[in-house]
Amino acid sequence: MKDSGNIDPRNKLNTLTGKEWIRFTKSWFIADGKPSDISREIDLHPASFPPSMIEDFIKFFTKPGEYVLDPFLGTGSTLVACENSGREGLGIELYSKYAKTAKSRTKFPVLEGDLRKILPTLENELYSLCITSPPYWSILKKKKDYNQQERLDKGLDLQYGHNSSDLGMIEDKKEFLQELVSIFCTIQTLLTRGGHLIVFIQNVRDKGEMIPLAFELPLHLKKWYVFLGEKIWLQNQKTLRPYGYPYSFVSNVHHHFALIFKKRE
Ligand SMILES: C[S@@+](CC[C@H](N)C(=O)[O-])C[C@H]1O[C@@H](n2cnc3c(N)ncnc32)[C@H](O)[C@@H]1O
Repeated sequence: MKDSGNIDPRNKLNTLTGKEWIRFTKSWFIADGKPSDISREIDLHPASFPPSMIEDFIKFFTKPGEYVLDPFLGTGSTLVACENSGREGLGIELYSKYAKTAKSRTKFPVLEGDLRKILPTLENELYSLCITSPPYWSILKKKKDYNQQERLDKGLDLQYGHNSSDLGMIEDKKEFLQELVSIFCTIQTLLTRGGHLIVFIQNVRDKGEMIPLAFELPLHLKKWYVFLGEKIWLQNQKTLRPYGYPYSFVSNVHHHFALIFKKRE
């Protein structure tokens, strides 16, 4: 395809050229995080994502100056990506320790507390994009593997904390999904017309069975969002562990789903 480097005048979504647009539509990508992305403070958090990866999504789903929301902010990677790409950002994080790290990384507002109380106070129809990664159910609480032992040895957090408002503390899967659905339903009202929601999530293993959270969520959000598809984030530098060997197949899950939704009008 010929790419003149111009933005198509019909393109109301972003400021990408045709080539850049098409490149992004590939359904998978590899991102391992640059060492410069990871300080000890960021490493303390058990599940942060690389800002450079989020920047690509922000550049596709918004134009410069538009507003981006991350209600499960963690260490603030989304706001760093907003700053690097000239977008406005706002984040919410439950734990002070991570909110403090986020504030040290960005000039944008970081609101501290339970997002379920804060979201209803935000301005409706302001955000062109909500891009976020909720806890993957209570999986960090349940996990007992090689990576956890390594983190323990380094004195890093194994789970976010023990606050009862933490979604990662909910044991019951049905209840967890209901909470997520209700949160994303509230977020729908904060999105602009034609705005997008991107949720990073994984299918998780529990008691020898894979729980397909990434497959279930789009079905539950159907009333409020059109599901546009997924981009699969591959982590190519994670150590392979001998899970299940030599008895049964247990996957080294080195990928996450970025589920892409558009606000239903
Ligand atoms: C998967 S992590 C997000 C990590 C983030 N993307 C980063 O790069 O650092 C999920 C975050 O949601 C936060 N969280 C869980 N329950 C919350 C709640 N009720 N309100 C606000 N934040 C919450 C956790 O503390 C955790 O930092």
